[in-house]
Formats: sequence, C-alpha cells, structure tokens
Amino acid sequence: MDVRRFPDGEKYLRVVDDVKNENVAVIQSIHHTPDELLFEYLLLVDTLKDLGASRVTAFIPYFAYARQDERFKPGEALSFRTVTKLMESVGTDEIYTIDMHQHRVLKSSEVFKIPSHNLSAMPLLADYVKKTGEVQKPLVIGPDTEAEQWAKIAADRLGTDYDVFEKKRLGDDHVEVRPRRSNAKGRDVLIVDDIISTGGTIVEASKILLSQGANKVAVACTHPILAPGALEKIQNARVVSVVGTDTVPSPISRVSVAPLIASEIKKAGMK
Ligand code: R5P
Repeated sequence: MDVRRFPDGEKYLRVVDDVKNENVAVIQSIHHTPDELLFEYLLLVDTLKDLGASRVTAFIPYFAYARQDERFKPGEALSFRTVTKLMESVGTDEIYTIDMHQHRVLKSSEVFKIPSHNLSAMPLLADYVKKTGEVQKPLVIGPDTEAEQWAKIAADRLGTDYDVFEKKRLGDDHVEVRPRRSNAKGRDVLIVDDIISTGGTIVEASKILLSQGANKVAVACTHPILAPGALEKIQNARVVSVVGTDTVPSPISRVSVAPLIASEIKKAGMK
C-alpha cells in the first residue's frame, strides 16, 4: 500500500493491488505511535472491505492499549474496549494477537466479538535462549503471578522448572516485587515477561535473584517497548543478556515472530 501525509498532516492511504474477492491478511503492529498506527489500520481495513476483499484477517503482533482494560479510577476511558470496537466496526473478520496483555481479561473472546486467537512467542524465545547457551538448565521466573502462563511455556520448552514472584505496582515506573517458593542459589536464571516498559519489574526481580545467590540472570520478553533509559537500567542491574522479539522494533529485537504468523496464514489457507 501507499501511505503518506498530506501537507496539513492528514494521512493518505491507497491500496495498490486488486483485492476484489481476495482473502487478505493485514499485519500491523500497533506500538510506539499507537494512535497513528491504529488510524492507519482502520483506514486500511475499511478500504480493503470497500474494494471488495472477501475476508480480512488481522495480525496485531503488539496490541497497544490492552493494559487499559479496566477503570482503575472513576471516569477513565476503557481504551482496550474502544480499540476492539473500532477494529470490528471497519470489518475485521478475525484477529490474531501475540502474548497480548491479558491480566484481568483472561480470554480474548471476552473483549472481541469476532473470532480471536492469542499466539505466544515464548517457544521462539526459549529456543533462542537455548541456542545462545547463555544460561544452562535455568530456573525460569515470571516476575508476577500473571507471567505464570509465559514462565510455564518457556520452562516446558527448556525442560526445566519455573516459579513466579508477586508484584505490586506503586506507580507508572515503580514496582515492588517479592519472591515466593523458589530459591535461585547456585542457579542460572531466565526471567520471562510479556512486556518490558520502564524496566522496573526486571530490575527488581533480578535484584532478588542475585541476592539469593543466582549464578547469573538473563531476560527474555515478547514486547520490548523499552521506555527511554530502560535498557541501561537493566544492564546496570547485572543482567547478562536481554532479548525480545520484533513485535516492537528495538535494539534487542533479535527473535522474529514471522514464523508464527506465517504458520497461521498457511493453516488458514490464505495465499
Ligand atoms: C505488567 O504487568 C507486564 O506484564 C509487565 O511486567 C510490565 O508491563 C513491565 O513494565 P515495566 O518494565 O515498566 O516494569
């Protein structure tokens, strides 16, 4: 497609190919400039449907606004719900997300009316960690109870054990993390999470693990959002390596989710 801006800042979008009666897959990660990318997505899908596409399947590797799924203070916008409504309203037929932040909403069917699937990049990340050999038979740690779903997948893939910590968020960039059962003494550790934003969660978790006597701590996450200074903060916390996927482009996006998306496109019989 051809996308540019008019001199007044409005967006221009043109679908160049003939999509009439086609089954179309749209791949659009909605990350650092979410409002802009979301609007581009809405323009695109509405146009595809208007041009006669028979079906539009969306792949949204990083789904912005998923964290605002609850009214934490009276009067707050339920942004997650607004975004899903907009996506449906332009004619999205089916949606695939990757490790979408589903802490309070546990099933994507609770927010989407259209068929939805949440894929996981954790097997790809675990394979990458195994290949680098950076950590051996690591204890896999999810830094909060919601991360258990990812810790379990990574540990199963690596043939090892896992545990989760408990986390209390005290502010946008301030968290308190507490250990539960496991002890990292003498172990290599792999912390896994869906998102690294300010890096606060990883820093607090690695402090605990190193104070317990862990040999070393490595980190893997699906969406390296990385707010300014986050990577430096993590590196200063004596973490030996940190890797993310390309759902969000970043200096640590070394694992591609392309095979995950390609395999679903193939399964769905799209061209
Ligand atoms: C939230 O609960 C997520 O799973 C992540 O743990 C969180 O977004 C990480 O944020 P930060 O890097 O700012 O601590």
